Amino acid sequence: MSVLHITGGAPLRGELTIPGSKNAALAILSSVLLAQGQVVLHGVPKVSDVETKIHLLENFGAKVSWHEGSLFIDCRDLHYWEPDEAHVRPIRTSFYLLGPLLARLGKARLPMPGGCKIGARPVDFHLKGLASLGAKIELVGGCYVAEAPTMEGSEIYLDFPSAGATQHLMATACLAKGVTTIHFAATEPEVITLAGFLQAMGARIEGVGTATITIYGVDRLDGCEYSVPADRIQAGTYLLAGAITGGDITARNILPETQTALVNKIREAGGMAEEGSDWVRVWTEGPMHGIRVKTMPYPGFPTDIQQPMAAMLALANGPSVVEETIYESRTGHIQELVRMGAKMRPEGRATVIDGVESLRGAVVEASDLRAGAALVIAGLAAKGETTVTNVHFIDRGYEDLEGHIRKLGGTIERIPIAEWEGKANSSREQIES
Ligand code: EPU
Repeated sequence: MSVLHITGGAPLRGELTIPGSKNAALAILSSVLLAQGQVVLHGVPKVSDVETKIHLLENFGAKVSWHEGSLFIDCRDLHYWEPDEAHVRPIRTSFYLLGPLLARLGKARLPMPGGCKIGARPVDFHLKGLASLGAKIELVGGCYVAEAPTMEGSEIYLDFPSAGATQHLMATACLAKGVTTIHFAATEPEVITLAGFLQAMGARIEGVGTATITIYGVDRLDGCEYSVPADRIQAGTYLLAGAITGGDITARNILPETQTALVNKIREAGGMAEEGSDWVRVWTEGPMHGIRVKTMPYPGFPTDIQQPMAAMLALANGPSVVEETIYESRTGHIQELVRMGAKMRPEGRATVIDGVESLRGAVVEASDLRAGAALVIAGLAAKGETTVTNVHFIDRGYEDLEGHIRKLGGTIERIPIAEWEGKANSSREQIES
C-alpha cells in the first residue's frame, strides 16, 4: 500500500502517448473466452483491473502470458470452475464472463461482481438479455448459477444504453444460433472496439456505433491479433491536468472524436484546444470561468471524466454545476476537494461549485478511481503538498500515472504507506516538542 505525494503549483506542459483503454481491454478480456485459438492483444494497459481479470481467466483454464508488452491468451482448454471471489468482487466486468462461459461451457457459476462504489449498478439488463438468449440464471447464496445447454438468437430491448450490457450480450450472441438484435444499444467507443475484436475472431455483427446492433450467430470463433486503442478517460484526465495547472498538454495516439464533449466544455470555460488526426492539445491563456456540465451516454460528456472536471471547475471564476445522470452517487471527490479549500457541495446528483482563487495542499482520500484522479489533478494545481491515500483505486485505471505526470513537469512520488506514516509521525513529534 502506498500514497501519492504531490507538490503542486507547476504548470504541466508537454506531450504524452496515451496508454491503451482499460474499459475496452476489460471487455475484450471477457469475450476472449469465446476464442478457440490463440489471441494476441497489443496495447493492453498495465493496470490492476487487467491483472485481476487475467487471474479470473486463469481460474477457468486460460493460459495467459505477457511477451514484450503484448498479451498472449489461449482459451482452448477451458474448464468449469467457480472463480476465487477475491478476484470477482473488485471489478464489475467479472460479471461479463457469465455469457461467454455459458456459450463455451453451457454452465457457469460466478460470485456477485463489485467495482467502484458510485451507485447501485444492478445487472438486470444483463440477466434479462441472457435469459432471452435461453440462459436459466439463479442467484443462490450470493452466486449467479447459470445454465444454457444451447442459446438461440433473440430480440433484446435495453431500458438504457448500457455499455456493459451491450458488450456482454453482443459477445454472447456471437455463438447463439440465429440472429440477435440489441435495441437501444450503447454507442460507446469501447463497444465499437469490442465489436472489432469479435469480428477479427470471425463474428458477424452489423450496426455497431448505432442504437441497433444485429448479430448473426456463428459456430465458432477463432484466435486473432488485435490492438486496444488509447484510453479516452486517461487522455481526458491529462488534458484537464494541463488546464487546471495553466499548462499546455498534447495527448497523442488517441481518437480525437472521443474527446469532443470534453474539449467543447474546456473551450466553453475559456480554455484553448486544437486537434489533429490522432492528437488533441489543450492549453489556457488566462483564468477559466464557471460552466454547466451534464454527463450523458456517448457521445455526451463522459461520466468517467466528471470528477476531474469538477476539480478543474473548483478553480474557475464564478459558479459551475456538474450534473451526473449516469450514477446515483459519484460524489466521493467533493468532501476531499472541500478539504483542499474548494467551495462545492452535492445537490442531489449534481455538484454545485463556487470557484475559488486557489486550493491548498492537504491529506485526502480517494474513494474511487475517478475521484482519485480528481484529487491528483487538484493536488497538482494546489499550493503546497498534497497526499492522496487509497491509491489502489487509482491503480485500477491509470497506467504509470506518476511517470506520465513527471514527464509533464509535475512533482509526484509514490511512497510506501509505512514510510509516509513514519514521516507524518516524526513531523508531528517535532511540532509538539
Ligand atoms: N445499469 C442498470 N442495469 C444494468 C446495467 C446498467 O441499471 O444491468 C445502469 C447502471 O447502474 C448505470 C447505467 O446503467 O446507472 C450505465 O451503466 P453501464 O452499464 O453503461 O456501465 P458499465 O458497463 O457498468 C462502463 C464502464 C464505466 C463507465 C460506464 C459508462 C467498464 C468496466 N466500466 O460501466 O467505467 O462509467 O460504462 O460509460 O467498462 C470507470 O472507468 O471509472 C467506470 C466506472
